[in-house]
Amino acid sequence: MSTEAGIASVGIQLPSLYLPVTELAELRNIDPNKFTKGLGCRDIALCSADEDAVSLAVGAAKRALSRWNGSIEDIGLIALGTETAKDMSRPLSAWVAEKLGLSGAVRSYEVKHACYGGTLALRQALEWKWSGASAGKAALVIASDVALYSLKDPGEPTQGAGAVAMIIDEPTVAAISPVSFPYSNPAFDFWRPVGDSFPSVVGQLSLDCYKEATEECFRSLIGDRDSRETLNSYRAMCFHVPFPKMVKKAVLHLGETLGWSPEETEELYRSKVEDTLEWNQLTGNAYTASLWISVARALVGLREGTPITAFSYGSGYGAELLQITAGPAAASAAWLADVEADLSARESVDMWEYETLRGHARASA
Ligand code: CAA
Repeated sequence: MSTEAGIASVGIQLPSLYLPVTELAELRNIDPNKFTKGLGCRDIALCSADEDAVSLAVGAAKRALSRWNGSIEDIGLIALGTETAKDMSRPLSAWVAEKLGLSGAVRSYEVKHACYGGTLALRQALEWKWSGASAGKAALVIASDVALYSLKDPGEPTQGAGAVAMIIDEPTVAAISPVSFPYSNPAFDFWRPVGDSFPSVVGQLSLDCYKEATEECFRSLIGDRDSRETLNSYRAMCFHVPFPKMVKKAVLHLGETLGWSPEETEELYRSKVEDTLEWNQLTGNAYTASLWISVARALVGLREGTPITAFSYGSGYGAELLQITAGPAAASAAWLADVEADLSARESVDMWEYETLRGHARASA
């Protein structure tokens, strides 16, 4: 088995609009501190009428392809992790492949496991490479989602959108260890029944499941080793980000179960985690893409060989902890230009424009 496969190129696409959570707080007549301090949120990335999970995925894929030294003919697999499916049968990858002009001897499919779907697509692509089944071809993995809740749902301030595309080939951007730490435990914490436009959530249960999964995955990673030495050996720790405060809650829970003092855990969070959430605070929850937005942020400027972790969580629930090592292209971080361009070009909407975008007339507010 060759482990010489990893992320060769990254492309990110963020939508053209955003709503500051303080605007939403005003609309809902809620203290804005609940959203900013209580949940740690800042902006909700929103799609215009012309944007959706497909256009975001296509934009991210084109950017990843444009800075890769291969061509579309070298792609033998496209896997799209999403929970913004358009159809129960036709995979979202077909819409994206069509727009990219990708057809022929290509395996094309959609992966669903809530927010874990993008990570599963990535693992499958890596395992396809490592097994030799790829016969020298590369994979295009995309995590793309538009996360919306019902109007006035407690999850409304955590909404967001975005896409991350990764070409799986030579590990120039990052290498990923074949050894990972999965954990699953069937639960109804967050789900979207067939035909429903928006998810159903049992808020407290979803928080408890996320914390339990964090504990279990990190316990497996640490094994018999010293927990302080092990966790401090990573430069950064990235997490799925349903809302930034969830990540802090999970880290505090982890520290407590490992027997660390609150000060030690706080320092772990400050030194390894906090910075990785910077872009997530500007996008909101992008479901499958959230973790990969955080990983892309963490890799910026890292020296080759620097190790980080990535914790993926998908309701239902399934989780997996990955070990990632920066490659030579992390230092120059070409994908930073995507995020800077999209953030500087995007326009803010006020609460009335938000209601219109969500299909509700102002009079019904
Ligand atoms: N000033 C400052 N803080 C305030 C405040 C104020 N005026 N009012 C409330 N707060 C604080 C609360 O004390 C609370 O903080 P703590 O949890 O630290 O006590 C925080 O703000 C949130 O308040 P509530 O718990 O009352 O919030 P809520 O019940 O209205 O909604 C939620 C919270 C349940 C997480 C909701 O946002 C939600 O349903 N989100 C979607 C589900 C989710 O994201 N779950 C996460 C795990 S599941 C997952 O990861 C998959 C996924 O992507 C969805």
